[in-house]
Amino acid sequence: MSRLTRAVAPPHVVNIDDLRRLARRRLPAAVFDYLDGGAEGEVTLRENCRAFETVTFRPRNAVAVPHCDFRARVLGAELSFPAILAPVGYSRLMHPDGERAAARGAGRAGTAYILSTISGHKLEDVKASSSGPVWYQLYLVGGREAAEAAIERARLAGFSALFVTIDTGTAGMRERDVRNGTGELMSGDIRAMIPHLSQFLAHPKWLTAFLLDGGIHKLPNIVIPGHGPMSLISVAAALADSVVTWRDFQWLRVMWPGPIVVKGVLTGDDARRAIDVGAAGVVVSNHGGRQLDGVSATLRALPEVVKAVDGRAEVLMDGGVRRGSDIVKAICLGARAVLVGRAYAYGLAAAGEVGVARALAILRADLERTMKLLGCISLADLDASYLDAPPGWPR
Ligand SMILES: Cc1cc2nc3c(=O)[nH]c(=O)nc-3n(C[C@H](O)[C@H](O)[C@H](O)COP(=O)(O)O)c2cc1C
Repeated sequence: MSRLTRAVAPPHVVNIDDLRRLARRRLPAAVFDYLDGGAEGEVTLRENCRAFETVTFRPRNAVAVPHCDFRARVLGAELSFPAILAPVGYSRLMHPDGERAAARGAGRAGTAYILSTISGHKLEDVKASSSGPVWYQLYLVGGREAAEAAIERARLAGFSALFVTIDTGTAGMRERDVRNGTGELMSGDIRAMIPHLSQFLAHPKWLTAFLLDGGIHKLPNIVIPGHGPMSLISVAAALADSVVTWRDFQWLRVMWPGPIVVKGVLTGDDARRAIDVGAAGVVVSNHGGRQLDGVSATLRALPEVVKAVDGRAEVLMDGGVRRGSDIVKAICLGARAVLVGRAYAYGLAAAGEVGVARALAILRADLERTMKLLGCISLADLDASYLDAPPGWPR
């Protein structure tokens, strides 16, 4: 067993929160808080997790479940279990192998990886790293021409679905990032950086790996005509100039021949609009509580969206998934599968691909145990009758 594998094995790591603890230890505060934090008062960030706790199980006991069927068909791909790796921008900051390691871990676990537009590695290299399905998440930062070039590259590289994120009309206010001087640290202005540099000296292993990797890279998948790849520092301003609107989907449908999924739906109305513009799926998502603080937990929003979609598109959800039992609850309320963001990113930060593999193994083992204890042999049999939701929840 390698040193890294031992570091993420029991008794050191038993659940996702243990991986979070390791990530916190390994990363400088500015990087950990970028990964861990949410917008403003972080109300929605907390609510996403709390909502899973307010919904309880109604098991069917004295039922033998010798083996469960966890396979899920999502966007035409057969996944070994219903958890997909969500797009996490600039994962290369958490670990030099970043997006490539995450894609490799997903493929080895038999599931899909969604690559963010804000990637530190070339999309072709990320696709080549995975033996499983890889999907592309699109922002319009850099404008339509840059997006068209990325979409064409993604199609040629073999990405098989496009996730268009609609909840990022401007960057959320992440107060932790302001306190840590994240903007100043990315500015390249030494005088502005100096007051914030000590946090890096306290994490020499991360710092060495970061410097050996060449520091912060330009974004190789956002190539601005006449200017070349965009820098990371320009992204926040570019987001405000590049809001995706429903009208853009007409153009996207021409550009992208495969399935398009709308990520960031929280209401039945937006779900219906997504279907009207031709979406094959929606992700019930509040961006992990990183954008508009004060929106409802995604588990709470899920039933309304499922009802509005009424089987016309695939419904995925993300936000707050930290245990396999959370996956089961989301499926009981109508999700076909979930996306996990921080759960695998903590693993990536803690131990690279080994940490991603450990995060996915934890979720999978949890899922199997939960199904057995619920007395349910197949994901297809899960429904709201296995849950008790507080009064007032849509059923
Ligand atoms: C550090 C970080 C970066 C993210 N970057 C993106 C991104 O580039 N594009 C996107 O659509 N969502 C992004 N998200 C949101 C995730 O795709 C996902 O919606 C969210 O993490 C789910 O919540 P969870 O972290 O509680 O699982 C990011 C999330 C985190 C934590």
